[in-house]
Amino acid sequence: MPTSLSVLPIRRLTLDDLVSCADLAEDRGWAREEHRWGLLLTASTGYGIDAPEGKGLAAVCVITSYGSSGAARGLAAIGMMLVAGRHARQGLGRRLMTHAMREAGGTPLMLHATQYGRPLYQQLGFTAVTETETVLGHFRSPETAPSVMTRPAAAGDLPTIVRLDTGIFGVDRTHMIARLPAFADRLGVAEDSSGLIGYGAVWPTQEAHVIGPLVADNTETAKALICSLVASLGPGPHRPVRTVIDVRHEELLGWVKEHGLAPTTRTTTMVHGIPDLPGDWTRRFAPLNLATG
Ligand SMILES: CC(C)(COP(=O)(O)OP(=O)(O)OC[C@H]1O[C@@H](n2cnc3c(N)ncnc32)[C@H](O)[C@@H]1OP(=O)(O)O)[C@@H](O)C(=O)NCCC(=O)NCCS
Repeated sequence: MPTSLSVLPIRRLTLDDLVSCADLAEDRGWAREEHRWGLLLTASTGYGIDAPEGKGLAAVCVITSYGSSGAARGLAAIGMMLVAGRHARQGLGRRLMTHAMREAGGTPLMLHATQYGRPLYQQLGFTAVTETETVLGHFRSPETAPSVMTRPAAAGDLPTIVRLDTGIFGVDRTHMIARLPAFADRLGVAEDSSGLIGYGAVWPTQEAHVIGPLVADNTETAKALICSLVASLGPGPHRPVRTVIDVRHEELLGWVKEHGLAPTTRTTTMVHGIPDLPGDWTRRFAPLNLATG
């Protein structure tokens, strides 16, 4: 790494860095998604390196820590790893990632890697556990809606949502879930006679309505939540719908593609310090977003 870059300090980001983070995302061809950065810079910890030329950021990443549950050691999700194009391939990504890993202490880590990030993460000891596919398009509701009961979430549902989520995600995500009512456009739940069997949220970007998290006891419930979340946006026309689905959920992926969504990108889900993600992937259909897991 050129000396000038190797000595640039790494600092904690604040909400004041929101526009610079969005600028950096745009520099790498990603959407600005300022709403998402707002969540990440408050609920997670951002690290950044100021650009040596004196304006904006040269590199960022964000780490979201989730609590332990029972014997689990907790989990931290690393995301939004970005290095400005003009400073790429000069060691900044490796340096920032190493810093974030050190700051996480011994906590097990997870991330969703693009093809560009994957070689670096492999070198740092991450291993692949699965892949996700991002799908985008105008969702066409099926003529016969899945016969699972859904409704908008009420404030009183939050503790039950957290309990359900903790059982499925394997770690406590209360601090992120508590922000969903303000962050999302809609938060919905599915239930049967036994109680809550799923929940999902839809949140805005300029390009799309994003569905995530999507957590459900089974695929029919996941489908019902998608239908009800899209319906809750009101009659069209509205922006396309986007979601990110673990490729092991072949049935749901096939179904959303039959109903108007098309694949855009694939990422590799990777872990460090654990052989696999905690929790139950069979009931975890979509992450809140790729950065937070
Ligand atoms: C991925 C990214 C963060 C890497 O940052 P960087 O500062 O360019 O990477 P470094 O210089 O620290 O390189 C670390 C290693 O990563 C690998 N790597 C980096 N860029 C690569 C590329 N374009 N293709 C293949 N390997 C690459 C190499 O193994 C490299 O080591 P080497 O240069 O000694 O061979 C940066 O390219 C980027 O912002 N890409 C666009 C956004 C993105 O995809 N982020 C990853 C999200 S998971």
